[in-house]
Amino acid sequence: MNIQTIMVIGAGQMGSGIAQVAAASGFHVLLHDTTPEFLNRGMQAINKQLSRNVEKGKLTPESMAEIVSRIRPTEFVEHAEQADFVIEAISENMALKALLFHRLDSLCPPRTILATNTSSLPISEIAAVTGRPEKIIGMHFMNPVPVMPLVEVIRGLETSQEVFEVVYGLSQRMGKTPVEVNDFPGFVSNRILMPMINEAIFTVYEGVASIESVDKVMKFGMNHPMGPLELADFIGLDTCLSIMEILYDGFKDSKYRPCPLLRKYVKAGRLGRKSGQGFYTYQ
Ligand code: CAA
Repeated sequence: MNIQTIMVIGAGQMGSGIAQVAAASGFHVLLHDTTPEFLNRGMQAINKQLSRNVEKGKLTPESMAEIVSRIRPTEFVEHAEQADFVIEAISENMALKALLFHRLDSLCPPRTILATNTSSLPISEIAAVTGRPEKIIGMHFMNPVPVMPLVEVIRGLETSQEVFEVVYGLSQRMGKTPVEVNDFPGFVSNRILMPMINEAIFTVYEGVASIESVDKVMKFGMNHPMGPLELADFIGLDTCLSIMEILYDGFKDSKYRPCPLLRKYVKAGRLGRKSGQGFYTYQ
C-alpha cells in the first residue's frame, strides 16, 4: 500500500507531534482540528520544536521550511477523503471518537486505514461503529512524540494481518520502534505505567514519603528520566485518572483502584503542567 498523504485529526500535544514526525519522515500531512485557534496552536508548537533543532544545528533552516511546507492545516474533516491513511488524536472520549470514526467511515474510500492514537480506549469498540473493522487499528505514540521511540501497534478483534503489517511498517518509516500489542485495557504501556504512578500517589497519600522523595527514589534508584509524580504532571492528572478508571472498570480488580488523592487533585482542577499546578507548581 502506497501511503503518501496522512491525515492527523487533532492538533493538540499528541496530534501536532505526530504531524511533525510524519512530515519530517517525508509524508504529506493534513492536520485537522475544529477551530483556527487549535490549528494555530498546533502549528506554533511544531514550529517551536523544529526551531529548537535548527538552533542546536540538528536541522538546517531549509529542511525545517520543507517539513513545515508538507503540513497543511485544515478545519475540514471532509479532507480525509484525500488521505491514504488517517490517524485520530482527539480527546479520550469514547462518544466523540465513535462519532468521528462513523463520519470518517462515510468520508474515506474503502481502502483507507483509520488508526487511533488512543492511550486506553478499546480499539474493537471504535471499530464496531464503522463498516470496515478490519481496517481499524491502534497506533499509540508516546509523549513527547518527536523524542520517544515507541509506538504500540494494537490489533482490534477484527484488524486484518495486512493492515497490521502496513501500520507496523509505517511506524518504522516514521523512525519509530513498533511493538505488537493486543486490545486489552491499557494495552501494555499504560497497564504497567499507570499502576506505578498510582502507587506513587498512594505512597504520598499514606505519608510514607514526600512528593520530592518519591520522585528521587525512582530517578536515582531506578534511573527513570522523570519521577512518577513529575511524569504524572507531564501526562496530565486527568488523563492518569481516566486511564486508571478504564483499568479498574475493565478488569474489575481492586489493584487498579485510583488513589483518592489523584481524584481530589483532578476535582480541584490541579491537572499537572497544563493547568500550572499538579504535584508541583509550574510558571
Ligand atoms: N517535545 C519535543 N522534544 C522534546 C520535548 C518536547 N516536549 N521535551 C524535550 N525534548 C527534547 C529536547 O529538545 C532534547 O532534544 P536533544 O537531545 O535533541 O537536544 C531531548 O528531548 C532531551 O530533553 P532535555 O535535555 O530538555 O530534558 P530531559 O533530558 O529531561 O528529557 C524528556 C526530557 C525526553 C521528556 C525525558 O524527561 C523523558 O524521557 N521523560 C519521560 C517521558 C515519558 O515517560 N513519556 C511517556 C509518557 S506516557 C505516554 O505518553 C503514554 C500515555 O498514553 C499516557
